[in-house]
Amino acid sequence: MEVADFYERYPYPRPIESLEEYRLLWQDRQRRRAEYHLYWPARPLKEDHTILIAGCGTSQAAKHAMRWPEAHVVGIDFSATSVRSTQQLKRRHKLDNLEVHKLDIEHVDELKIDFDRIVCTGVLHHLPDPAEGLAALRRVLKPDGAMQLMVYAPYGRVGIYMLQEFCRRVGIQATDEEIRNLIVALTMLPRGHPLENLLRQAPDFREEAALADALLHPQDQAYSVPEIFDLLSLAGLTFGRWARQAPYATHCGAIAQIPQIARLQQLSPAEQFAAIELFRGTMIRHSFIVYRDDYPGSAQPISFGGDAWLDYVPIRLPDTICVQEQLPAGAAAALINRTHTFTDLVLPINKQEKQLFDAIDGHRTIAEIAGDRADRKITSALFERLWWYDQIMFDLSR
Ligand SMILES: C[S@@+](CC[C@H](N)C(=O)[O-])C[C@H]1O[C@@H](n2cnc3c(N)ncnc32)[C@H](O)[C@@H]1O
Repeated sequence: MEVADFYERYPYPRPIESLEEYRLLWQDRQRRRAEYHLYWPARPLKEDHTILIAGCGTSQAAKHAMRWPEAHVVGIDFSATSVRSTQQLKRRHKLDNLEVHKLDIEHVDELKIDFDRIVCTGVLHHLPDPAEGLAALRRVLKPDGAMQLMVYAPYGRVGIYMLQEFCRRVGIQATDEEIRNLIVALTMLPRGHPLENLLRQAPDFREEAALADALLHPQDQAYSVPEIFDLLSLAGLTFGRWARQAPYATHCGAIAQIPQIARLQQLSPAEQFAAIELFRGTMIRHSFIVYRDDYPGSAQPISFGGDAWLDYVPIRLPDTICVQEQLPAGAAAALINRTHTFTDLVLPINKQEKQLFDAIDGHRTIAEIAGDRADRKITSALFERLWWYDQIMFDLSR
């Protein structure tokens, strides 16, 4: 099969030899809590769960086994190269909680295991029938399980699709020599070409496997926001939240200032996301959490109406930084999530807000952090903003 052959020759991401740095990073329990509550904000942290990494590539399953030593992790991939590379990492790091199988996503039922969590990133858009693949994954997801998906987004990848078409017309093949020559040609692209911005943003395109994956992939179908919602409904799944939500939120960044903002906010969330994708224009992927459409209760019950929010425990997200230089007037700090690619998603906070922000320790509730004297409106507005801007995750289980 063409896609499988492609990944035998150009395994992506590039195989890695050691996960030592990765292990140190994930020893931090708060990091694991933040990840867990992204999927299940209302559930107490449970380390021993079952995780499927579908289309695991060279290292993703091993990384999850390392991250979650008490979980049982299963990686599947139809590329023998990816399976081999994962098995090497398993042996090297003695990952007894990991099993790896050479298996098609479409046949995942053969494992005869139901999973609490499924991660399928960078894979569905390469399947001949993504809805069929997703439906197969749904069949092995527990009713109260959760799935993280990442699929390519069309508008930000226009330059890639133009170059894919260029390669097809010229007959450029995925061989080492042709890829090296393609890298040379790309350095000569005219200024303003839609691919230029992407090449600047993604230095890993200088690597052969990444470039081959982007420009010479035999099968690659991107999904706009409405297409994602259609795909989910075909597969019996519902949308939970974006993995990083600020780029899609009407509250965050430049979009909050546009003259049409009130009209935008009257739309349903799905319509808002679709409009914002068009306005932002350069999203290259969508990463999000989904649930079965028969999920018992509400999976993402976060709300700032009523009083429940006072009992939420905020957890700082990794990859966030607090900057205290070159601030706008009145700001005591600017909060940045380094995984955001849009520069308008910097969040300035004043001195009073910074005191509350600094008091977040991952253990106390908002009520405990704010104390009796804090203004409730200011407190609720701040924590809601921190949440929308991907500065914090909430643990609602207290
Ligand atoms: C771009 S890589 C992504 C790897 C990994 N998920 C990650 O995010 O690092 C796509 C992987 O999906 C695998 N794949 C594609 N179609 C598949 C299928 N139908 N069944 C199993 N694996 C598949 C490929 O072999 C490849 O290793």
